[in-house]
Amino acid sequence: MRVALLGCGTVGSAVARRLQDRGERYADLLGRPLELVGVAVRDSSAPREGVDPALLTTDAESLVGRADVVVEVMGGIEPARSLIEQALRGGAQVVTANKQLVAQQGEELHAVADQHEVGLDYEAAVMAAVPVLAVLRDSLAGDEVTSVRGVVNGSTNYVLDLVAREGVPFAEAVRQAGELGYLEADPTEDLEGLDAAAKAVILARTAFGVRVGLGEVDRIGITGLTDDDFAHAAQRGSVIKLVASARPAGDGVSVSVRPEVLPAHDPLAAVQGGTNIVVIEAVSAGELRLQGAGAGGDETASAVLGDIVRAARRVR
Ligand SMILES: NC(=O)c1ccc[n+]([C@@H]2O[C@H](COP(=O)([O-])OP(=O)(O)OC[C@H]3O[C@@H](n4cnc5c(N)ncnc54)[C@H](OP(=O)(O)O)[C@@H]3O)[C@@H](O)[C@H]2O)c1
Repeated sequence: MRVALLGCGTVGSAVARRLQDRGERYADLLGRPLELVGVAVRDSSAPREGVDPALLTTDAESLVGRADVVVEVMGGIEPARSLIEQALRGGAQVVTANKQLVAQQGEELHAVADQHEVGLDYEAAVMAAVPVLAVLRDSLAGDEVTSVRGVVNGSTNYVLDLVAREGVPFAEAVRQAGELGYLEADPTEDLEGLDAAAKAVILARTAFGVRVGLGEVDRIGITGLTDDDFAHAAQRGSVIKLVASARPAGDGVSVSVRPEVLPAHDPLAAVQGGTNIVVIEAVSAGELRLQGAGAGGDETASAVLGDIVRAARRVR
């Protein structure tokens, strides 16, 4: 089974290493080996620890053409979107960790996947290691989900935590998070709630099977918060979290991302640093809580590899 990896950064290099380390395990599981046939990067001369340099290529298009499973971990919209579409049209199964792409183009890409009878999986796109999409899609397929609510962006949570727990002024906490590499070079995606909004859209579609886009998310980031807001919350024994939520509303769904003042007993209040949490309410199951690493190379690779195994099982 030929696997092509598009991207070999934080996530891609962890996936490549695990495909090699766990080769026998996957061969036993699937009844045939998973062979990494190439790794597309921008700079094929840069060394990649644990990855055979002979596998590196800058020609992603030809790599896609010779794989049964294409794994996109490059990020960004283009060329990721075109390469995924090329893979689906060519009959390959596709796995991606790209939340913005899935939030913006997921419906169109699913239509192409359906037309060509192949799968498109993206567990890693939401909450990295935490298998929330599998729970919503498979485990709760026979139930009725009534609400999904979570802290799904570790970078903003790190900032909010630093203010609440260490008393660091808000602006200083943002600066420190940037310095430690927790925020992107352009921190807008995290601080303005764009990253959380993309995840909320994917959660809403998966939980409620509705069409919903990023434009429909009622979104407020954390940049408007002041030290007074944190002081007022602390006086009441509460904390401020950036909460993403989705629940049915009329024929559709209401999706929001905004800072909320949460009482200490709220399960979302205790989550620290880069940890993510989601609380799912379903009619029969009641309340379910899923919590774990919302980022990190190996952690995110766990979800990508799970999708690769799932995709490989579909390859005839
Ligand atoms: N990092 C996390 O914790 C995490 C968690 C959940 C989801 N994700 C998602 O996973 C994806 C990858 O994230 P990452 O952190 O691994 O990114 P990254 O470290 O920046 O790695 C990106 C990789 O893609 C390659 N690449 C980028 N543009 C390319 C192009 N046009 N053609 C060929 N190769 C290209 C880069 O090549 P060069 O190395 O040559 O520059 C690099 O190897 C993103 O969609 C991200 O949102 C990441």
